[in-house]
Parts: sequence; structure tokens; C-alpha cells
Amino acid sequence: MRAVVIRMESALLAIILTSIVALSFLMNGNATGITSTFIRSEYPSVDIPLNNKVFAVPRGYNAPQQVHITQGDYDGKAVIISWVTADKPGDSKVQYGTSEKKYEFSAKGVMTNYTFYHYKSGYIHHCLVDGLEYDTKYYYKIGNGDSSREFWFTTPPKIDPNSHYIFGIIGDLGQTFNSLSTLEHYMKSAGQAVLFVGDLSYADRYEYNDVGLRWDTWGRFVEQSTAYQSWMWSAGNHEIDYMPYMGEVTPFKNYLQRYATPYLASGSSNPLWYAIRRASAHIIVLSSYSPFVKYTPQWMWLEAELKRVDREKTPWLIVLMHVPIYNSNEAHYMEGESMRAVFESWFVQYKVDVVFAGHVHAYERSYRFSNIQYNVTSGYQYPVPDKSAPVYITVGDGGNQEGLAGRFRDPQPNYSAFREASYGHSTLELINRTHALYHWNRNDDGNKTAVDAFVLHNQYWGANHGKRKLEKHNVRKIMMDEIATH
Ligand SMILES: *[C@@H]1O[C@H](CO)[C@@H](O)[C@H](O)[C@H]1NC(C)=O
Ligand SMILES: *[C@@H]1O[C@H](CO)[C@@H](O)[C@H](O)[C@H]1NC(C)=O
Ligand SMILES: [Fe+2]
Repeated sequence: MRAVVIRMESALLAIILTSIVALSFLMNGNATGITSTFIRSEYPSVDIPLNNKVFAVPRGYNAPQQVHITQGDYDGKAVIISWVTADKPGDSKVQYGTSEKKYEFSAKGVMTNYTFYHYKSGYIHHCLVDGLEYDTKYYYKIGNGDSSREFWFTTPPKIDPNSHYIFGIIGDLGQTFNSLSTLEHYMKSAGQAVLFVGDLSYADRYEYNDVGLRWDTWGRFVEQSTAYQSWMWSAGNHEIDYMPYMGEVTPFKNYLQRYATPYLASGSSNPLWYAIRRASAHIIVLSSYSPFVKYTPQWMWLEAELKRVDREKTPWLIVLMHVPIYNSNEAHYMEGESMRAVFESWFVQYKVDVVFAGHVHAYERSYRFSNIQYNVTSGYQYPVPDKSAPVYITVGDGGNQEGLAGRFRDPQPNYSAFREASYGHSTLELINRTHALYHWNRNDDGNKTAVDAFVLHNQYWGANHGKRKLEKHNVRKIMMDEIATH
């Protein structure tokens, strides 16, 4: 008799426990979000020593170094070519043409130099090369005589809703062996241009004259990619370089001297926020560390720029920022909340396809969620599924010296679809106006491994065709099937 009662009690307890667990699954969305348990061996998070060959100064007196290019106009028919000469100013001339060693054209840029504490920069050159043809390979030469150097780049296809194009997305790169691994993996991908989501050199981890020095080493380190394809820059907190202890209080000084953006072409008043159109994409770059509340220049510019977006011409609307507004890592938790409060309703209204951010040194992707019904007194404080919302992707996992952010909040919030603390980069292949293929590639010890991959349906054209869902496939498909069977 007594045994039966105990059995009944424990059966009841089991039912209660099961329903609590089930309830918490529903409330927290643990049934769908994935926290990857993959642990990879990583290199120590220390910067590559100065004498390593990745930082080598090119041979020859006053040879151009730290060569990098970025889109130079609104539509992709221009590039800004930038480089540094160390010994004397030299000229700011670029020779270029469509066949190797034959330079039919030339363009002249501007030179600038600056000090940071007692560090004196080299001579920094920025040269706009415009009037280019779409979809064309150009060869270019900078510098003089024996010290001259030659590179090439390919212009994007014309602005067209079905232009095929592959972007790489890299963030928080730094200059460690992990950074090198990320860069090398990206260079093995088919990426044609990089959307960089902020935190370039981590030179601000150094003091006094070493800050400028580590900006220079980073420029030489990334040249293997940045001299050959456009990297679109956005600024992170490690670009601020506010260092009162040595009298340096002008924000973004090193960054703005060295990295140009075509901000005037989109009517922006500041190089820290701007937009470009490239192939089938309209890309909006925001500054997490510049004023953005209502009536500030950035807010007014974004309001106007969103109205200029023409999804009939550029179906893909992509936003870049440094601080993620949907992040479930303990690192930098809630830091994006102020920008979310200001801009999220526009992202939903304009059906942004995807928002890329960095800052958190891990990978995370959201479902389409929004929290725009929350207005302090509404009581609706939780993000909810929203078909018009962007997918938010954090790729702050480039591999800088601060290491990985391995502590995710538990339980995983229901907006979070996939998260993993490993180094890597992403690619977004725009196939046509309706379909894009997205991959996150973990730097898996020598092999390019796609871990999170799915088909992104265009928010504008997809909606017209009644297909707005994220469709999982490949690796994700397998994971989703596994979950569905539990
Ligand atoms: C820039 O370079 C010129 C020529 O070498 C030099 O005279 C000047 O002091 C430099 N300016 C700064 C701010 O370093
Ligand atoms: C776009 O590409 C996808 C995948 O190849 C294809 O299924 C779809 O029909 C294409 N859409 C258009 C509008 O061509
Ligand atoms: Fe950051």
C-alpha cells in the first residue's frame, strides 16, 4: 500500500517536473536555438612578433607599403587606393590599365601625415581612381623605379537586381596567429569584397609610440588581401584611440588618417557612416561610437538614405555596425540596446535583409525577431518573431589578442538561432534577386569548414513571392533534423 502511494507521488512529481521543463523550453526557445559545444584548439591570443614575415617592409627605398583599396563612389565604378611611404613623401600617383604592365591611365591623389604622441606616421596617400568599367580587371602600379609595386583588382558587376556577387564578412581581426588563420581562410574563399565590421588592428592595446607602430604592422599584415579587393570599413571601439594619458584625445585619429571611405558619395557628412551600392546590394555602414539619437547627423542621414534604397535595383539591403543589437553572449551584453531603441523600427519597416556586427568575440546568428512593440509602458518587453525583421549576425571572431568570448547567457534566448565561440569569417553569396547563400566558416585547423549555412530569401522579392522563411540546409539542415526528432 505504502509503496503504491510513493510510486504515485513520484509519478505525479515526474509529470510536474516534465511540464516545468516543457514550459521553460517554450518560454526560452531552447527547443530551437543551438549553442554549439565545439571546442577547437587555438593559438595563444598574443600578437605576431614584429620580426615575423607577415609584417615585412617591402624591399626598396621608400617602397609603398600597407596598400589597401576600398570602393570610391556610390555604385562601384571607382576605388580609393591608399598606401604609405616611409622615407619621403614621394608622389601620390597611381598608374593603371586593363592589361598587365601596360598602364594607359594615371590618377593623382593626396598625401597626409600626422603624429600620435611622439610617433610620426609615414606619408599616407589616398588616390581616387574613377570612371572605371564594371566587371573589369584592372592592374595598377604605385611608387617609383625599383621600389614600385604592382597589384590588381576587379570591379564589381553593374548595379542590377540579379548581379551575382560574393561578400566576405570579417570582424575584430587584430594581428595574432588566429587573425592570420582567419585571413588565410577568407582568401581561400571565393569572396570578392570584404564587409569589415570594425576593430581592425587592436593597436590601442599598446602604449605610447607602439600604438602608431602597430597600426603600421596591421596595414602590412592585411595587404595580401586589401591590395587586391575592396574592403568596406566600419569603425569599432578599438578605432577610437582616446588616450588622454599621452595627450591624444581626438577620437578615431589613426583610423581616419589611414582608412578612407566614400562617404561624400552618399551625402554623409562623416567618413564613419556612409552607404554604397555594389552589384545587387545596398550596404549601409553605421557608427556605433558616433551620436545616433534622433536629430543627430547620423540619424538624419540614415533616415534619408533608407528612402534612397531602391529594392528594384538593389534587392539586398545590408547594414553593418560594430556593436550587435541582438547578442546573448555575456560579453558586451546589452551594449547595443541604445541603438536598437533608435533604429530597430526602421530596420523592420524597410525590411533589411541582414545586419552584420562584430565586437563580441564569438559567432551568433538570430532568427527574424523584433522588439519594436516595446515602448517602456507597453509591457511587451520580450522580442517576438517578426517576418519583416532582419537576421542579425555577429562575426566578431576574427581572432584578435583579447581571445574568445566563451560565456553565453543561459538559457539561450529564443531570438538566438546559433552561437559558438570559435574563430572564423562569413561569406554571403548573392545569387540573384531572390536567393542568397550564407556561410559561417570556422577556422578549423587548416580546413575551411562551413558550420552555419542557409539560404537567405530576399525580404523584398521573397515577400512578393510569399517566401520569406529562412530555409536551412547542409550542416544546419542536419542539425535542425536532429532537433526535430527530439
Ligand atoms: C609631415 O611631413 C613633413 C615633410 O617631411 C614634415 O615637415 C612635417 O613635420 C610632417 N608633419 C607631421 C604632422 O608629422
Ligand atoms: C534564384 O536562384 C535560385 C537558386 O538557384 C532559384 O531557385 C531561383 O528560381 C532564382 N530566382 C530567380 C528570380 O531567378
Ligand atoms: Fe569591439
